[in-house]
Amino acid sequence: MALREIIVLPDPRLRLKSEPVKAVDAELRALVDDMFETMYAAPGIGLAAIQIGVPRRIVTMDLAREGEPKEPRVFINPEVLSSSDETSTYEEGCLSIPEYYEEVERPKAVKVRYMDLDGKTHEIESDGLLATCLQHEIDHTNGVLFIDYISKLKRDMVVKRFKKAAKRGEPIKPLAEDDKPSHHIG
Ligand code: NI
Repeated sequence: MALREIIVLPDPRLRLKSEPVKAVDAELRALVDDMFETMYAAPGIGLAAIQIGVPRRIVTMDLAREGEPKEPRVFINPEVLSSSDETSTYEEGCLSIPEYYEEVERPKAVKVRYMDLDGKTHEIESDGLLATCLQHEIDHTNGVLFIDYISKLKRDMVVKRFKKAAKRGEPIKPLAEDDKPSHHIG
């Protein structure tokens, strides 16, 4: 296993549409191991392969809370089959847009098809945090970021801040500990 670097805004690779995985092999399993190590270290609850610069349709996730046993999940070639009309709002963050959180409205429930590490296809009905996280991560495989759902004014401000920091080679200033939500999406 190896810890990989998480790419951040404004890295243009975040806008790539990732390629489907054709077969589960040793190389894919090694990549998934790296994704888990990187996600847990961040820490984050979800990670898409493109966030470590690999444009393949792979998502890792663990929604267990701190102190609870780990619940690692892998979604290969995940796709949303249907979405509820009912929506919910969640304060999202992204490991590729560190230290920025904003409320995002999405369908409350989604039906998702994916393949597991044994190459088996599954369909799941999800809601709550799982539905939000799946939609956020599947968006990553399509080059979509959560800031695409906020107002243009706010989005432009965030992108400008990250471009400026990248130009100066400065890290993004962390928020005060009190301002950090207990969960962030990956
Ligand atoms: Ni993200």
